Amino acid sequence: MFDSGMGGLSVLKEVRHLLPHADLLYVADQARAPYGVRDLDSVLEISLEIADWLVSAGADTLVVACNTASAAALEEIRARHSAVPVVGMEPAVKPAAAMSEANVVGVFATGATFQGRLFDSVVARHAKGTRIATMACPEWVDLVENGHISGRRAAKLVSSAVDPVVAKGADVLVLGCTHFSFLRELIEQASGLPVIDPARPVAERVQSVAASAGGSGSIRLLTSGDVDKFRRIVGELTQLSADFGRYPE
Ligand code: DGL
Repeated sequence: MFDSGMGGLSVLKEVRHLLPHADLLYVADQARAPYGVRDLDSVLEISLEIADWLVSAGADTLVVACNTASAAALEEIRARHSAVPVVGMEPAVKPAAAMSEANVVGVFATGATFQGRLFDSVVARHAKGTRIATMACPEWVDLVENGHISGRRAAKLVSSAVDPVVAKGADVLVLGCTHFSFLRELIEQASGLPVIDPARPVAERVQSVAASAGGSGSIRLLTSGDVDKFRRIVGELTQLSADFGRYPE
């Protein structure tokens, strides 16, 4: 599994829950984060490098636990690693459109995700006739990377992006970036609206395609950034017990 940083751990937690014996290897590419302000070609190149590395390290299932990397590279990773099931993130616009009575759905994601073809194609396929209020929130990624998921500053940064979306009439909100799972409570408090997080359905998909679910139940978390800081913030944000190391090993 990989992400630019902490965000994909929201998916990893759900995968752990559904596949308690699978061995999980996760790369947080914090040295090159955030992905959301990069151009899609550079995220493509990075994503292929990490996917290649994971497969060479023995991964028999790949999870692109990052919406931005999925927007940039999902098709290419699938083409390159056709022997391995590849699960990616796509904005959960379909269930949101079905749930919205106002026919207005708010989506929070990165700027790069909104630029990708994947986002337009998901909207065209699943949300015809629904207005999509998009909001890019790079500050939210930064909050989560630093473990700031509560407190006054976080609440203020969350409501300053939520308020304009609510003002556009959205009655359902979608988390289109894996980092934002960790801010879900603040988003719910700021909006008073239902919030859809695809982490669980994506984990269910992983469960259904995983090449091997049996193992010792180990979790190995690697970062291309500062290992000590990563270990500390993973401890603050999750209850995971894991081994830590540096990417590439
Ligand atoms: N977690 C990533 C996503 O799901 C993006 C965060 C970033 O900008 O690096 O899109």
